[in-house]
Amino acid sequence: MFIILLVILAVLQAIVIIWLLSVYTQKAEMDSDHTSSLPKAVGDFYNETTDKFLEVYGEIIQAFRTNKVEDYLDYTIANAELKDGQTILDAGCGVGGPASYFASKLNAMVEGITISSTQAEKSTAVIESKELKGSVEITVGDYHYIDQIYGESRFDRVVFLESFGHSNDQTLLLEKAYKVLKPGGMLYIKDLFKREAPTAEDTQKIDKIVAEINKAYCYNVPDFYEVMRSIRRLNFILLFAKTPEVKVGEFEHLTISNNFQELFDIAKIITWDDYVFPIDFYEIKVMKPPFDMNEQKHLYFLNRPEAVVDLPEIKA
Ligand SMILES: C[S@@+](CC[C@H](N)C(=O)[O-])C[C@H]1O[C@@H](n2cnc3c(N)ncnc32)[C@H](O)[C@@H]1O
Repeated sequence: MFIILLVILAVLQAIVIIWLLSVYTQKAEMDSDHTSSLPKAVGDFYNETTDKFLEVYGEIIQAFRTNKVEDYLDYTIANAELKDGQTILDAGCGVGGPASYFASKLNAMVEGITISSTQAEKSTAVIESKELKGSVEITVGDYHYIDQIYGESRFDRVVFLESFGHSNDQTLLLEKAYKVLKPGGMLYIKDLFKREAPTAEDTQKIDKIVAEINKAYCYNVPDFYEVMRSIRRLNFILLFAKTPEVKVGEFEHLTISNNFQELFDIAKIITWDDYVFPIDFYEIKVMKPPFDMNEQKHLYFLNRPEAVVDLPEIKA
């Protein structure tokens, strides 16, 4: 009897040890995902892989796109309200594909920043290949320091085009974007966001694929709610948060990224049966208030407030 008890105890002990080990391994994996999205790691990643990206994606490194990628950039110009005369920051600019396209369509001053020196080197040829109406300047640097690099209240627009999710400190990054925007300036983010799963079973699958994406691409797939929380804490005015509006016939259907994932050996979509989408693509546009929140309270609640000097009297 005593021996049987000992055996049962030993088995229980083994089960607990195995469980603890699996929890520990899972945590270690999640921690390593986080470190994999540290700016230095992201820079090394793009220094090594930019040739592959250029081969498969061309000079626009975005998974969600149209068959004719210029159509998507035109859509971005319209939706981010990029206009002549503006100073625009393309934060996480790749090889300067979007930045130089914007400057070829608009008489705007476009600054691009990338953490990869290889991308910055390659951007010279990309920019030279275009006839520009405006100007493009590419800087190698960490977008978590844009306030120090460019100065405060500098930009009419800050755009993150599938680059925001590389950040290992997205709250700080939003604070920095706020700082470098002029009052009335707009922040536009287009990115992938972790999907809210309809069932517990799907949640598990989603967590697994998102962890793979984070690891393979040095990413930190954003949590929509966390991003919205930070945006609201900063008092940004929300203009919209939505799925990009692309027609079925024009959508590229992620073929490019699927081919690319083959190279990285992750989450290739082979069949739609049982496939669970791990992410949503969203675009978010917010405005830095063009007025002083404490002085001009009558402008609160308005999504396109024009700064008015006189505060109307409150009727008794
Ligand atoms: C997927 S690519 C997108 C490039 C570009 N937006 C485009 O559409 O072609 C992500 C970009 O974010 C940049 N990036 C990631 N982390 C960064 C950081 N900490 N500072 C500056 N750029 C960063 C990378 O260098 C890369 O250029």
